[in-house]
Amino acid sequence: MDHLKLLDLFKSKYKSSSPRVFRSPGRINIIGEHTDYNEGFVLPAGIDKEIVMVLGANSTDTCNVYSLDQDEEVTFTFSEYLSVKEEWAKYIIGIVDQLLKSGHRIGGFDCVFGGDIPIGAGMSSSAALECATLFGIDQLFSLSLGKLDMALMAQRAENQFVGVNCGIMDQFASVFAEKNKAIKLDCRDLTYEMYSLDLEGYQFVLVDSMVKHSLASSEYNVRRAECEEGVAFLNSRYPAVKSLRDASITQLESVKSDLNPGVFKRCHYIINEISRVSKAAEAMGKQDLKELGRLLYETHQGLQHEFEVSCEELDFLVDFTREREDVLGARMMGGGFGGCSINLVQMSRIEDFTLQVEKAYMKKFGQRPFVYQVYTEKGTSEILS
Ligand code: GLA
Repeated sequence: MDHLKLLDLFKSKYKSSSPRVFRSPGRINIIGEHTDYNEGFVLPAGIDKEIVMVLGANSTDTCNVYSLDQDEEVTFTFSEYLSVKEEWAKYIIGIVDQLLKSGHRIGGFDCVFGGDIPIGAGMSSSAALECATLFGIDQLFSLSLGKLDMALMAQRAENQFVGVNCGIMDQFASVFAEKNKAIKLDCRDLTYEMYSLDLEGYQFVLVDSMVKHSLASSEYNVRRAECEEGVAFLNSRYPAVKSLRDASITQLESVKSDLNPGVFKRCHYIINEISRVSKAAEAMGKQDLKELGRLLYETHQGLQHEFEVSCEELDFLVDFTREREDVLGARMMGGGFGGCSINLVQMSRIEDFTLQVEKAYMKKFGQRPFVYQVYTEKGTSEILS
């Protein structure tokens, strides 16, 4: 993303002096899907697709925000921002709302932003927008928020203002990411370990099904509620179980006949997925990429048949890879109902993989999928020119 272009645009639109430029990355998630809000583990990494934002204080109590991609501007004040209808602006106003609710004193600002994270592809463009906004405002008005506070506040903005009851993974990854590293995050106590992403001749490749996950936010909240229902029942039998992180498959099996079959399946997937993340991190640490790939396929199986958040197009993309010796593993990535598959592909074969997957998908669905080779990138920062 060309930040100088955004800076020129900012200067042509707004008068505020000393604008500064901030950025925050999207993310991939290697494994650990829907585990974050169940106090489990996740294994995301920041990527070289990002939101770039130019911000300047304007010494008024009005905020002007221009989205380059939408070619739209919204204006709001701190006493009147709830009426803003533009969906894209909610991620920014949600941050302002959080800051005001926590008693921070901020002034009006002008803002121009853009980015190259495809929207609805499951690479967390919304978390990147929230984190760039929060970090930028923090810097502009010297709020001195810590990184963890920022991730948590950005998550609350999404929960409370946008209305998606998401976990902490995306915002945490956007803020804490490091180049060439994946973050094994314990979503219970928010401690983390960095794992090297040196994959000896292999690389993660994303294939965008181009299906936009419109069901995602409503079904996401339903899945979360189903997990909570499972925990409530398990807790009535096993008081030590406060989240699915605490539950074992044996405990779950023992209450199977009392649980709604759908709830049982959701919980079964989550309990296994939480332990798969640790196995995957261990395999990565030992450079056992075959095992890592096998675990990715296992996760997809669970997401498809037990958690039921996949779709025909994503299943097709994963099945396409099964016979290929140059792909060690694949699965749908992110919340589900569309977006990308993540594939562990032999580097020297990426070109052929790309050609063949495009051809097969085109033949089946009449649409070309977008293939991305992703590179890791560091978390939220200021771009200094
Ligand atoms: C979305 C949410 C995350 C996480 C994933 C599924 O990306 O924002 O918190 O739950 O779905 O793993």
